[in-house]
Amino acid sequence: MATSMPAIIKLCSLLLLLVLVWGVFEQPKTCEGGESFACNPKDAATKDLPFCRATLPVQDRVRDLLGRLTLQEKVKLLVNTALPVPRLGIKGYEWWSEALHGVSNVGPGTKFGGVFPGATSFPQVITTAASFNASLWEAIGRVVSDEARAMYNGGVAGLTYWSPNVNILRDPRWGRAQETPGEDPTVVGRYAASYVRGLQGDDSNRLKVAACCKHFTAYDLDNWNGVDRFHFNARVSTYTIANNITYAFMEYSYVHKASLTG
Ligand SMILES: *[C@@H]1O[C@H](CO)[C@@H](O)[C@H](O)[C@H]1NC(C)=O
Ligand SMILES: *[C@@H]1O[C@H](CO)[C@@H](O)[C@H](O)[C@H]1NC(C)=O
Repeated sequence: MATSMPAIIKLCSLLLLLVLVWGVFEQPKTCEGGESFACNPKDAATKDLPFCRATLPVQDRVRDLLGRLTLQEKVKLLVNTALPVPRLGIKGYEWWSEALHGVSNVGPGTKFGGVFPGATSFPQVITTAASFNASLWEAIGRVVSDEARAMYNGGVAGLTYWSPNVNILRDPRWGRAQETPGEDPTVVGRYAASYVRGLQGDDSNRLKVAACCKHFTAYDLDNWNGVDRFHFNARVSTYTIANNITYAFMEYSYVHKASLTG
């Protein structure tokens, strides 16, 4: 565990940067004027900045953007409600959207209404997991990410989803059993890999949307008897961490380059 943590953190930062860049640079074709996104072609003050030029290599655009941000601005981008940077035409971004079994309005990054009155809600994960059908899990992920992309293009959802929930179900009193694929680390790992592939797509350079498996790790206690997950000191043996709890995270994270959240 001790040796694999920095790799996970590095991977995570790289992916978050990738998604930020993508979210900032991608001009949704269906959104009139693109006012809700960075690099608005109508904004004379920013449209010619190098990081907005789609013809330049992504690395150059990232370097340009990072070089322009002050330390204070970077710090304000490190929380889930990333604040706007008006002088560079960068809008605020809410990293927190949810899609455990369909795009959901539980996350503050997603709003239903108008032309997007709702999204497809598939059955709870514990039931689709019981089909033991990995291609079904992936197919559901593809539908969810199609809808997520459509909503993002309409400016009502993010590109970053705090899904799936691949905590191993250890005790039903936790209360979130229905969100998970169950108690078997192998099934949960397969589920994670399949659903994440469905969400992210298989283009090696671009993510369709970014999945983020939760909750890393030994974090599955919500609120019991005055003890909550943000303050609870879970004492878990190294053996259990390696063979049970983190197994599902490992299965997908190195293969599919998804991020992790606590
Ligand atoms: C598994 O799911 C796929 C859809 O992805 C479906 O076509 C197939 O029939 C399912 N397999 C079984 C054994 O139910
Ligand atoms: C993982 O935890 C579950 C629930 O506590 C237990 O039934 C299972 O035997 C554990 N598996 C391993 C490989 O330790």
